[in-house]
Amino acid sequence: MKSEPAHRQFDLDYGLDPDKLPAHVAIIMDGNGRWAKKKLMNRVKGHEKGSETVRSIVTLSRKIGIKFLTLYAFSTENWARPKIEVVALMNLLKRFLVSERTTLKKNEIFLNIIGQKDRLPEDVMKELDITMEQTRNNEKMVLNLALSYGGREEITRAAKQIAKKAAEKIIDWETITEETLCDHLYTKNMPDPDVLIRTSGEMRLSNFMLWQMAYAEIFITKTLWPDFSEQEFINIIRDYQSRERRFGKLPCYSSDGSQQ
Ligand code: IPE
Ligand code: IPE
Ligand code: MG
Repeated sequence: MKSEPAHRQFDLDYGLDPDKLPAHVAIIMDGNGRWAKKKLMNRVKGHEKGSETVRSIVTLSRKIGIKFLTLYAFSTENWARPKIEVVALMNLLKRFLVSERTTLKKNEIFLNIIGQKDRLPEDVMKELDITMEQTRNNEKMVLNLALSYGGREEITRAAKQIAKKAAEKIIDWETITEETLCDHLYTKNMPDPDVLIRTSGEMRLSNFMLWQMAYAEIFITKTLWPDFSEQEFINIIRDYQSRERRFGKLPCYSSDGSQQ
């Protein structure tokens, strides 16, 4: 992937190799509640502060030249939280969708949703549709917000769609491949994440992009999401660029087995 001149200069200034950027970065934004608790504040304050981090990391990703950024904002399991927190999160999301619209347009970022969009409250869905529609033709970066998202739900949904097509003889079951499944995921036509970041130190996936994470490079930081800084993000991308990705192969051998 060739980056643009403006990105290249920015990357070089920050010690990043513009020719080795991850195409897709995915983040489990965790620790808002603990951040608030530490400060003797209501959990909602943590989510509010977390939305400021979202703003800065989206802008930074765009400057670096990352093409796909996926943020885990609300899981299928998060519906089981106290109603007061769910309502506060939905209100915050709605405010974010309205306040960020201009910036997203200016920065030519397409806002996309992965997850059960239909489960969101009607007023949130309305703002979502407007933002998605107004940013649809933006090509510099895709910002995927994972909302009411669950990896298992996504795979189950894909299996159902494929089964229906097979039953209706639209596809032949014998021709079903991994690609068929990819084509029925929310991330259709997107590359798999190269980088997965989880803040707050938890060592788990929490049902996030179970299919797509097959070969993601994983970075777990103890920093709570509201405290996650631009510098830490850059450090992670730099660390990623120094890792050797093998994809199950041997590093110094070519496919015929000869040593290089
Ligand atoms: C992540 O922060 C945001 C959401 C899951 C919506 P949490 O709310 O999970 O914060 P902690 O994990 O309780 O600190
Ligand atoms: C994962 O965080 C979901 C989001 C960040 C949106 P959780 O806080 O819900 O995950 P667990 O409960 O620690 O696994
Ligand atoms: Mg959490």
